[in-house]
This record gives sequence, C-alpha cells and structure tokens, in this order.
Amino acid sequence: MTKRRIGVLVSGRGSNLQAIMDKIAAENLPIEVAVVVSDKADAFALERAAQAGIPGKAVVRKNYSSKEEFENTIDGILREHNVELVVLAGFMRILTGNFIAKWRHKVINIHPALLPSFKGLDAQGQALEYGVKVAGCTVHFVDEGMDTGPIILQKVVPVMDDDTHDSLANRILVQEHLALPEAVKLWCEDKLEVKGRKVYIKK
Ligand code: GRF
Repeated sequence: MTKRRIGVLVSGRGSNLQAIMDKIAAENLPIEVAVVVSDKADAFALERAAQAGIPGKAVVRKNYSSKEEFENTIDGILREHNVELVVLAGFMRILTGNFIAKWRHKVINIHPALLPSFKGLDAQGQALEYGVKVAGCTVHFVDEGMDTGPIILQKVVPVMDDDTHDSLANRILVQEHLALPEAVKLWCEDKLEVKGRKVYIKK
C-alpha cells in the first residue's frame, strides 16, 4: 500500500511531531513524514527529524523579503516532497489566505485550548486566567482566520484549583499528543468530511 505523505511545520521543541512519528511507528500506519519545515533554524524539532532520518528544512522569515516569498518557499518544499497533508505542530506563524487557498482542507493545526475560546498565543495561560473549570486542545482545519477553521477533534482536561501555567499546559499537552496523531490518521484514511463549519468523521 502506498504511504500517504505528510509535511510537518514546526517552530520549537517538536513534541507533537514526535507524537505523530511515534504513532506511525507504533501502529505501523501507511503514513510517511516526508519533510519537516521549521521557521526557526534552532528548533529542536529539526533535531528530532534528523534523528528519525526525515528531511528537515529551516525557512527563516527574515531571510526573505516578503511573507509571500517566505510562504512560496515553504510551499515549494512541500510540493517537492509530494506532501498531501500539511500538519502545523507548534508552528507559530499565521499562514496567509494565498497559502491556504492552495491547500484547502489539507492543512490541520493543533491548538492548546477548546476553540473558539482562547484563540492565539498562550491559550493555556488565557484559560487559567479566565478561571475555566475545563480546558483542553483542538485539532482543526486551517482557514484564512487565526484558529477559526472547522474543528476535527477536541480533548478535555480538568483545571485544578492549584494549577500553575505549566501544570495545566502539561496536562493539555498529553491530550495534544493523542488528538493530533489521531486527526492525521483520520485524514490519511479519508475519513474526514467537511460540510461548512462542521467536520464529520466517517465510520
Ligand atoms: C503545543 O502546546 C501546541 O499546542 C502549541 O505549541 C506547542 C508546541 O509544542 N501550538 P511542540 O513544539 O509540539 O512540543
């Protein structure tokens, strides 16, 4: 069976990338991480890719005269590696509508909050400050907005009275490492059907 090819965009430590690689190996899934692209040259995620023998590329924004040129470079790398699904795994940049238009329903993102609550940066801290009793993470298709695309999967965690930012973020991260690889598997198995804002998972 030919393997489905995914490209993973990262910016940092890459624990979500690692979770995807681990699930593929553990379940012997017909999925290949064809390339890892980071906007930070020193992202540990690139080290994880190298250790796994996966091509890793650093595409650093300041090296490009425009956001369009930056994104076109990333787009070119993904196409060069015959990527079918783009996975944002801790990728800290907003992709423009031009990029998304080329990859409609082929870009998914992991966000550490129960969208539509707490979009944007430090979602875990936003939740803690707001005083919510439950928090969690969301895997969603990426559209032109920020954290606004159709929701694929969500996982819920309790917020404890004595939670710190780190204790809550770590509890959410455990669920991220389950949700994102599961969403990747569902997409690669063609089990996700998008109707407007809603995503249906085919049995
Ligand atoms: C994760 O918490 C993710 O939800 C957020 O940034 C973090 C990335 O972690 N966008 P990692 O690089 O996957 O370890």
